[in-house]
Amino acid sequence: MTEKILVTGATGHLGLAAIEHLLTKVGPDGVAALVRNEAKAAPLREKAVDVRLGDYDDVAALERAMESVGKVLLVSANDHGRLLTQHQNVVRAAEKAGVQHLVYTGMAVKDADASPLNAMLRALLDTEDHLRGSSVAHTILRNTMYTDALPIFLGADVLERGINLPAGQSRTPFALRREMGEAAANVLLQDGHEGKTYHLTASETYTFEDLAQALAELSGKAVQYVSPDPQAFEDGLRSAGVPEFGVATLAGFITDIREGRYDILTQDFENLLGRKPAALKVSLREVYRF
Ligand SMILES: NC(=O)c1ccc[n+]([C@@H]2O[C@H](COP(=O)([O-])OP(=O)(O)OC[C@H]3O[C@@H](n4cnc5c(N)ncnc54)[C@H](OP(=O)(O)O)[C@@H]3O)[C@@H](O)[C@H]2O)c1
Repeated sequence: MTEKILVTGATGHLGLAAIEHLLTKVGPDGVAALVRNEAKAAPLREKAVDVRLGDYDDVAALERAMESVGKVLLVSANDHGRLLTQHQNVVRAAEKAGVQHLVYTGMAVKDADASPLNAMLRALLDTEDHLRGSSVAHTILRNTMYTDALPIFLGADVLERGINLPAGQSRTPFALRREMGEAAANVLLQDGHEGKTYHLTASETYTFEDLAQALAELSGKAVQYVSPDPQAFEDGLRSAGVPEFGVATLAGFITDIREGRYDILTQDFENLLGRKPAALKVSLREVYRF
């Protein structure tokens, strides 16, 4: 039986993007998808992808899902309190199944321990250490902030109200999730990536001023950027009824951006794609459907 490439997080955006690229290269016989919720599997089944049920918390199901699997894309989980354990479960199942190459997606962020989100970031880095101590040949992909996540930060009415975020003049190499999925698929399909760590970042960094200007040019509206006092911003979220966890998460990401923790530039992404990643205006046009 041909050994397949198993993609986890396959009902999510990044996993699906990787699957779509893999399908163009190896066809449905070469791809399997780990799915925890059967109800969400229909679109994958329609593409004739081999759907395997399993949760990152269910060790036995993970071991079953790895049968006749040669390579795995482990898309990081999103239950912040359980990340490390869940990732370790997937790595252990891969070791047990004799998987030859596991590609793991973490975050491209500097000085993680100083971040307000250090617990989550530490779990992603500890996953990297766990992989290094495992018997599975692996590649680590450190993904930058998604351009696709910008609407969460900028708000639904950004074109009317502008950008009001305490990000200062910091720079971030925002990149499209679709292209990150493609790069991850390429790592799985090509030889020579074992033992490597790559940073998936755009070829340029952008300020929020750049974002405002690009949105203004694309929409024809006067989109301004204002960077308020961080404490006033948090207080504003609370008075707008945002729950404390949401305030901490949003303010945490913006603090990391303001303090330059995402300001990392490498050629890795460009090399893995075999071309320059989409420029800012092209990405924003795709995300905002202009
Ligand atoms: N770089 C960034 O800007 C950024 C932003 C947001 C998130 N992230 C990280 O990148 C990951 C992928 O991003 P995304 O946009 O593709 O996220 P997403 O659309 O939320 O997809 C997450 C995927 O992981 C699956 N999953 C979560 N917990 C699982 C578990 N316990 N067992 C099995 N599957 C599980 C989800 O399954 P269900 O469909 O069943 O929920 C979903 O398929 C996220 O999980 C998060 O760790 C990065």
